[in-house]
Amino acid sequence: MTLQSLLPILCCTAALILSFLCLFAGHKPSFMTDYPLVTLNVSRLAEGVVNKTLSSDSNPLSSLWDKVPSNIKDHIDDAASSVSDEIGIEDFYQAHLLDYCYGQYTPAETPNATVSASDIKKNVTGCSNQTAMFYFDPKEILEEALNKSGTGVTLEDLNWPDDIQKGLDALRIVSLTAFVLYCIAIGLIFLALIAALPALFAQGRLTACLNWMVGILAFLAIGLASALVTAVIVKGSDLVNEHGNPVGVEAQRGNKFLALTWAATGLMLITLVVWSFEICFGSGSRRSRRNAYPPAKHG
Ligand SMILES: *[C@@H]1O[C@H](CO)[C@@H](O)[C@H](O)[C@H]1NC(C)=O
Ligand SMILES: *[C@@H]1O[C@H](CO)[C@@H](O)[C@H](O)[C@H]1NC(C)=O
Ligand SMILES: *[C@@H]1O[C@H](CO)[C@@H](O)[C@H](O)[C@H]1NC(C)=O
Ligand SMILES: *[C@@H]1O[C@H](CO)[C@@H](O)[C@H](O)[C@H]1NC(C)=O
Ligand SMILES: *[C@@H]1O[C@H](CO)[C@@H](O)[C@H](O)[C@H]1NC(C)=O
Ligand SMILES: *[C@@H]1O[C@H](CO)[C@@H](O)[C@H](O)[C@H]1NC(C)=O
Repeated sequence: MTLQSLLPILCCTAALILSFLCLFAGHKPSFMTDYPLVTLNVSRLAEGVVNKTLSSDSNPLSSLWDKVPSNIKDHIDDAASSVSDEIGIEDFYQAHLLDYCYGQYTPAETPNATVSASDIKKNVTGCSNQTAMFYFDPKEILEEALNKSGTGVTLEDLNWPDDIQKGLDALRIVSLTAFVLYCIAIGLIFLALIAALPALFAQGRLTACLNWMVGILAFLAIGLASALVTAVIVKGSDLVNEHGNPVGVEAQRGNKFLALTWAATGLMLITLVVWSFEICFGSGSRRSRRNAYPPAKHG
């Protein structure tokens, strides 16, 4: 048993765990909900309603405005968050690979004189059921919340930009492909782990070659999955920010998730390098062949 044959096993095990965590992060509010793909901050979305209501008395939203306590009507922030509660919209929605979670910012939605940006924490209060081939569709999620509230407010009232939807629809197929690739990658990394076990006892070029072949497939699968999911995260959040910022919607990239998935990819790369090294310079190659066929002694 050498370090060289132990290293791939350790790397594959760690990569397997990390890939599983990528898939199952956020499956309930208490499990790794700080590892989302993207966080959609919609805490200021209701401000549009407040502004609209303030600018005209005769619209369907004025009944909502009447419910806002009169002592906070002067503060647009507080009034907006009161309206938010009224129409059933949470402060943020975050996408995971298999579901989405939602909750409130504590202690406040926006930094002020006493609460700095770093003091603001996310309090995740719920998650949707996990489904395979899940796709984060903020329009549907918000619409459902609005419908449930029974206030009659629609997404149009909130000035929800249609361009967000157009852009996100284009990302749907990439996102689903990434999910399928994660599943394939988990299978292949598991295979790579199993294949690496015999190498603990029987080192040789053949074992190394077999392992290298499984290893490169696993590396390609997890690498491609990570690349696709990175593209979706970067493109999706840029898109939401471009069209959403004017109506108070903000998207944040899930950098922790990216770290997780690229760490898994890195570990598989290390595995691959070890096997490549083994094939070229390992105990199964030149040295043992030399032992098998000792050079004929002269004289
Ligand atoms: C609402 O009005 C305030 C001040 O009039 C403005 O700063 C803010 O950007 C407006 N919000 C939205 C979402 O239109
Ligand atoms: C900042 O927000 C917190 C939480 O909502 C509030 O208690 C505090 O009074 C605010 N500070 C200022 C200066 O507005
Ligand atoms: C949420 O978005 C609003 C407006 O886009 C911003 O003012 C606020 O700071 C954001 N909150 C957090 C916690 O990122
Ligand atoms: C998070 O939200 C839940 C439910 O609204 C509440 O009971 C809990 O106290 C909150 N946690 C923090 C840290 O604010
Ligand atoms: C989620 O799953 C639970 C239990 O399996 C079920 O009762 C509930 O209706 C599901 N919720 C949704 C929104 O599908
Ligand atoms: C919400 O209600 C509208 C109008 O009744 C309907 O068109 C829409 O499909 C509903 N959305 C959801 C997600 O239930």
